[in-house]
Amino acid sequence: MVKTKTDLGFIHRFMAPKNAPNSERAKRGATEGKTFTTFLLLHGTGGNEQDLIPLANELDENTAILSPRGKVLENGIAPRFFRRLAEGVFDLEDLKFRTNELADFVIDASKAYGFDLQRIVAVGYSNGANIAASMLLLRPEIVSSAILFRAMVPLVPQTLPDLTRKHIFMSSGLYDPIVSKQEAEKLFGLFKSAGANVSVSWQESGHELIMEEIREAKEWLMNSISSSHPSSA
Ligand code: MLT
Repeated sequence: MVKTKTDLGFIHRFMAPKNAPNSERAKRGATEGKTFTTFLLLHGTGGNEQDLIPLANELDENTAILSPRGKVLENGIAPRFFRRLAEGVFDLEDLKFRTNELADFVIDASKAYGFDLQRIVAVGYSNGANIAASMLLLRPEIVSSAILFRAMVPLVPQTLPDLTRKHIFMSSGLYDPIVSKQEAEKLFGLFKSAGANVSVSWQESGHELIMEEIREAKEWLMNSISSSHPSSA
């Protein structure tokens, strides 16, 4: 049964692509007989479903947006996508449960809003990037491409998934006090071993985002979309 838009289990926003009929992406979609690409926006700790919308518009304003709010409240006030025991120490059982819960929400939302499950680009920052990484490792069918800002290893699965058709852009801070260079490299290595088409861009930054990496992510997105849909480029 298709759930109603108010019954999807997460507070969220869905926005159809602006100017869809004239957009390059919509034209590509039409060529393939498919619909539009959708950004799955995943905010950082203490954020909400509004936070990454300006970033998504900067990346491509003609892409649809599905933006849920994390359901775990840290200290009763700060929304997150899964529980942690301390900074960088995750409650793995909760992480697995929340990863599946979020993946199921995306499936239900695709039916309710009519977007294409094969064309989802996850865009996550910090805690949101970590659950996006967890989804790639545990429920890879949900995400075809991902832009991960300041991600770390969420968990190491017992068996690596096949990520050969996934495109992943990691952007990490050289001076990040929360995610060490070694930690980001470990995640890059996991994706690489699973066969993903992954790149990492190092920023002259800490945990905070800078303009340069948004420009890089935008460029990467244009290239990765055309290389994953070569016939429509
Ligand atoms: C996390 O808990 O996911 C990471 O430590 C990033 C953060 O939210 O600070």
